Order: sequence, then C-alpha cells, then structure tokens
Amino acid sequence: MDISSVLQGGYHHPLARKWQAQRQLTKSMLMYPIFITDDPDASVPITSLPGQARWGVNKLEGFLGPLVKKGLQSVILFGVPLKCTKDGRGTPADDPSGPVILAIQKIRQLFPTVYIACDVCLCEYTDHGHCGLLNDDGTINNTPSAARIAEVAVNYAKAGAHCVAPSDMMDGRIKYIKRGLIDAGLGNKCTLMSYSAKFASALYGPFREAAGSAPSHGDRKCYQLPPAGKGLARRAIQRDTAEGADIIMVKPALPYLDIIGDAAELAQDLPIACYQVSGEFAMIHAGAKAGVYDLRTMAFETVDSMLRAGATLILTYFTPEFLDWLEA
Ligand code: PBG
Ligand code: ZN
Repeated sequence: MDISSVLQGGYHHPLARKWQAQRQLTKSMLMYPIFITDDPDASVPITSLPGQARWGVNKLEGFLGPLVKKGLQSVILFGVPLKCTKDGRGTPADDPSGPVILAIQKIRQLFPTVYIACDVCLCEYTDHGHCGLLNDDGTINNTPSAARIAEVAVNYAKAGAHCVAPSDMMDGRIKYIKRGLIDAGLGNKCTLMSYSAKFASALYGPFREAAGSAPSHGDRKCYQLPPAGKGLARRAIQRDTAEGADIIMVKPALPYLDIIGDAAELAQDLPIACYQVSGEFAMIHAGAKAGVYDLRTMAFETVDSMLRAGATLILTYFTPEFLDWLEA
C-alpha cells in the first residue's frame, strides 16, 4: 500500500471521527418550533407530527419547563387561532390577546433565559389563507402586504419577542420591517431573521394541517420560490442581506443543502439558519417506523449535512430529542 493511499488511520477511533467535523452540533444551535393555540388549556397532539402538539398558554410551563432544564435555549412561535374571525388583512395576527402575543409575555415571565423568535406571516389569520393581502383578481397586492407584515412584526417585538422571522415571502418586507423596528425604538433590541430562500415545497403539509393555514384557493407558487430556482434563491439572499436581515434562513433544509452552501458564501458575515420542516420530520419518522433506518442515526445524519453545508442555526422539531441525545 502506498503512503498516500491510507486515510483510515485518521478516523479509526470514535473521537478521531468527531474531529472530522468542521462544526459539531451543540444545544445552542437548536431552535424549537412550537404551536400556540387560543384555547389556553389546550394540549392537542398533532397526528401528522409525532410528539408535537398545539399548546395553550396555560400549558407552557409544564411543556417547556423540563426542556429548559435539559438545555433548551430558543423557540420559534407559530400561532394557531381556532376561535378568531379571520379577514382579508389578517387582523387577528397581532391581536394583543391572541395566542402569540400572550405566549411571548408568558414565556418571558416563566423562562427569562429563553430566546423567543416569532414566525411572522398572515396565512394563519387571513380568510383566504394566503400569506399577504390580495387584489380583487386574487393576485398578491405587494406594498400593503409588506406594510402589514411589518406592522405585525413590530407588534411582536413590542410584546417582547427577541427575534421576528417573516415567512411570507413578500418582496421588500425585510426593509419595511427593519424600518418599523428602528422607528419603534426596537432596532437594537430585536433580531430580524429572514426566511430568504423559502421554496414552494411539498414538505409543508403537516404544518398546514397543524396550523390551519392551507390556502383556500390557488397555491403559493407566485411568492415562494420554484424548487429549481437556484439563481432566484441567491438573489433573494443578497437582497435580504442588503435590506437589513440579521440572519438568513433556507427552508426546507435537506433537499436544499446547496442553497445553504450558497447562503454561507453570499452572506458569510451573517448566521445561516435552516428549517428542517414538518414534512422532513414526518418523513424521517415514517422511514424509521418502516424499518428503513434507526431514527436517531438518521436525525443526526440529516443535521450533520446541514452543518456541513454551512448552517449555524437549525430549526427542528427534533430539538427535544437532540437535547437528550447530546447528553449521552
Ligand atoms: C407560513 C409557514 C409555513 C411554514 C412555516 N411558516 C407553511 C407554508 O408556507 O405554507 C412551514 C413549516 C413547516 O412545514 O414545518 N408561512
Ligand atoms: Zn404564510
């Protein structure tokens, strides 16, 4: 055997295998997506998302307490309004007595160390289920959409969110939100995480079921990116960086590792987040249940691929499991 042929000496030991990673997963890289509903005493399991539930604000202490003890450091909140009256502009999104604003206040009070991000979108709150405001012909009305999204984001920040994360994909909303935060005196108190490269994916099904946010007509292909659109994703990442985003996100994660790599290159001075979405989580569970692989091994393999591609922050429904697995 020639000297230059032998690599195995470098990874024969488990510890030496760990050293092969440029970055290892730590608890601080995990952000846990949670669903907050408007029945304060609810804890309703979501059948398509194993282990996940819709929570009422009164249940947050019992739900999050044990996770915080295990090292949970951040959450991202999604509102699931079931009782409110939805309308064309998503009025319930920033209702001061709605589930998201109540949950921000509750979590800040219960767990002062936990970093609270809020997803900002209108689809859970509009009667048509689209992520922005519509023209009469059903197309997106861009400028008022961006203005309304910014209004909601600022109201979440005022309620105490440490981070606002717009997932609507309306052009120009990052600039609107940043301006709004600055004008409200919150520019230096709230992080702006942009879902910059969010693709029109088949992997959002379980989420839409959980959040009740499927569009009543049409689809989201005129605002979410086409899956083959690498160039568009690169342009969106550069635009959002220029408009004032503090963190760039790619979503979904596993089928878009090249885009995570692009984001790490194009926005190299910003943290790069990726969202292992509901369909990815459900798929990994389904494969494990079918005996295709071991759940834990596969969960680590997927997350390691995201770190390898350049992510520094991972939004995943596996967060509670990883908090256990990272102990061992
Ligand atoms: C709403 C939103 C969606 C997700 C996050 N925010 C669904 C969508 O765009 O239809 C998906 C999250 C997931 O699937 O886990 N704009
Ligand atoms: Zn939406």
